[in-house]
Amino acid sequence: MIMNYTKFSPCDTRIEINSWQVLEEPAQIVRHAVFVEEQRIPAELERDSADADCIHAVAFDADGQAVGTGRLLPLPDSVMKLGRLAVLRSWRGRRVGQALLQALLDAARGQGAREVMLHAQQSAASFYREAGFEPRGEEFMEAGIPHLEMVLALKSGD
Ligand SMILES: CC(C)(COP(=O)(O)OP(=O)(O)OC[C@H]1O[C@@H](n2cnc3c(N)ncnc32)[C@H](O)[C@@H]1OP(=O)(O)O)[C@@H](O)C(=O)NCCC(=O)NCCS
Repeated sequence: MIMNYTKFSPCDTRIEINSWQVLEEPAQIVRHAVFVEEQRIPAELERDSADADCIHAVAFDADGQAVGTGRLLPLPDSVMKLGRLAVLRSWRGRRVGQALLQALLDAARGQGAREVMLHAQQSAASFYREAGFEPRGEEFMEAGIPHLEMVLALKSGD
């Protein structure tokens, strides 16, 4: 892991970028609440072997409780895949999601990525569009939920 750092976002949360080894516990608290309990995605689909290879972000509230998370998986050809972005329901609509997204895009730039791609749940496509992502290809099903591939090219010096 080349980077780990903390930044303060405008929504009273602190975002930490670090390895799975460091962030597994807080990231899993949020992912379990959002994907397994709320969205009913089977726990065995939610967990995969990619976590150890990813850069993770966790947003913590003022009491140090995890309220949001996301991850970046390095792929060949300087592409990174953003995924598992989740904010606890009680924290939604306060820009924690956009702050996590921007922190992960900064991390991707820091790794020299030329493109970030993701599989967006259809309902969240407008959230990613706001950050400049464009859809690529047709809608498809993943974990029983309609998804769209979306991409953002990172210009050098961005
Ligand atoms: C998607 C998610 C991470 C967004 O987090 P958030 O902290 O609520 O997002 P923000 O407050 O930063 O939202 C920024 C903007 O995107 C919009 N937005 C957020 N989620 C949206 C959604 N699902 N559909 C449409 N718009 C959405 C918000 O309305 C807001 O716009 P506004 O400021 O003009 O009102 C959160 O809704 C979540 O965890 N959802 C469940 C898990 C999920 O679907 N993850 C995405 C998998 S692809």
